[in-house]
Amino acid sequence: MFIDISNLKKSYTTGVVITEVLKGIEMKLEKGEIGVILGPSGSGKSTLMNILGGIDRGDSGSVIVDGVEVNKLSDNKLTDYRRGDIGFVFQFYNLVPNLTVGENIEVVLNISKSPLNIDEVLAAVEMQDKKHRFPRELSGGEQQRVSIARAIVKNPKLLLCDEPTGALDFLTSRSILQLLEQVNKKYGTTILMITHNAAISAMANRVFKLRSGEIVEEVVNQVIVPAERIEW
Ligand SMILES: Nc1ncnc2c1ncn2[C@@H]1O[C@H](COP(=O)(O)OP(=O)(O)OP(=O)(O)O)[C@@H](O)[C@H]1O
Ligand SMILES: [Mg+2]
Repeated sequence: MFIDISNLKKSYTTGVVITEVLKGIEMKLEKGEIGVILGPSGSGKSTLMNILGGIDRGDSGSVIVDGVEVNKLSDNKLTDYRRGDIGFVFQFYNLVPNLTVGENIEVVLNISKSPLNIDEVLAAVEMQDKKHRFPRELSGGEQQRVSIARAIVKNPKLLLCDEPTGALDFLTSRSILQLLEQVNKKYGTTILMITHNAAISAMANRVFKLRSGEIVEEVVNQVIVPAERIEW
């Protein structure tokens, strides 16, 4: 099992108030699969993803990714894991405004173990002709393509996407989902995606429904719907 999370718990303390955000998460995903996490605002989706990506740590339980117990890594090893093995895509792209498209991707190369070729990746996201543009000169969908290129250029084992289409219109969203599907096929990248949009779950192998810090339902899709046929 590529991702194997068991009994993961996480609380945040603000002042004297302790909030239990993850209450014993169980989650499994095979290598090369696409997983979708659905759930209302505040249910713990980003917290779960941040722990999986080595941005945060769980309090207890185990988080195994490709045989590595992420929760037990030293700070240095956790940083290596986050930099080397994980690609992140966020709702609002997080591109550096004063760097060009090519430069935004280049900055990642220095911290990658086995990076892909920039031009290959730009071609894969169909942005090769915009390599010298700045983010403000791109549409939202184009910026998200660049952020996906930046995430995959390091050839990550795991691509974590937090509401990747949350800021995009329907047609642009669908083209981004098709791109993620292509990345999954071409590079064999395991993808875990957070969304509020239940329609997107049709393209996933497994769907995890999160509510108040617990997985209340897991669906294994027998039929996977290609992103190009998803509608909402
Ligand atoms: N660093 C933090 N300190 C204190 N509380 C936090 C922290 N991060 C998250 N929380 C709390 O944990 C809960 C879950 O937050 P999380 O961001 O995981 O939700 P989410 O499911 O991603 O929501 P959304 O769909 O709105 O992004 C929320 O109640 C939030 O206020
Ligand atoms: Mg969130």
